[in-house]
Amino acid sequence: MKTLLHVRSSLFGDHGQSAVLAADFVSTWQARHPGARVIVRDLIATPLPHLDAERFAALTSQPEARTPSQQRIVAESDALVTELREADEIVLAAPMYNFAIPSQLKSWFDHIARAGVTFRYTASGAEGLLGGKPVTVIATRGGFYAGTPADSQTPWLQTMLGFLGLNDVKFVYAEGIAISADHKTEALRKAREQIASAGNEAT
Ligand SMILES: Cc1cc2nc3c(=O)[nH]c(=O)nc-3n(C[C@H](O)[C@H](O)[C@H](O)COP(=O)(O)O)c2cc1C
Repeated sequence: MKTLLHVRSSLFGDHGQSAVLAADFVSTWQARHPGARVIVRDLIATPLPHLDAERFAALTSQPEARTPSQQRIVAESDALVTELREADEIVLAAPMYNFAIPSQLKSWFDHIARAGVTFRYTASGAEGLLGGKPVTVIATRGGFYAGTPADSQTPWLQTMLGFLGLNDVKFVYAEGIAISADHKTEALRKAREQIASAGNEAT
């Protein structure tokens, strides 16, 4: 059975523009894959803590040496990694907050980037271990940044996802949402068009 991992990170829950567009993506995907499974990872409803010294030590500890508290931390990260491994495809809702991805989404990456688990170092450099899954990023922004040096999200997400082996990444942008009601309507219309046409292109 096909599985889609849907990662949510809008502060505004179901009303966030990235959430609305990601919901469109999910409906389109479900229409293409009737009966398929969708895993929802809502990073706002259930936030992950910051990666601090204690958590990093737990994630890099030897399994046989882990304390009960370290075991709990690793189990939390393992659950996130399992969702990624089980997914055939991923949709990431990524609003722009203060010129970056939401800190909750950054925490998710901090908990899934694990040496020997989701990437490994080889003689020829780092190798991502999550390969082969298409990722669609729904990027919603108040202003306009795509294709300019001020777009801090796109290169970071491409590099981070690529580091984990996720190199097949498409971006759907909805930009200018804060400029005016007309800009917002037009941005959402264009993004919906891209989501629908991506669905038509897919097999
Ligand atoms: C805390 C906060 C910070 C924001 N920072 C930016 C920003 O740096 N650049 C920008 O273009 N828009 C910014 N915005 C506008 C959001 O990107 C825009 O409202 C977008 O729709 C957010 O996606 P969401 O509705 O899915 O949460 C910010 C919004 C909030 C709430």
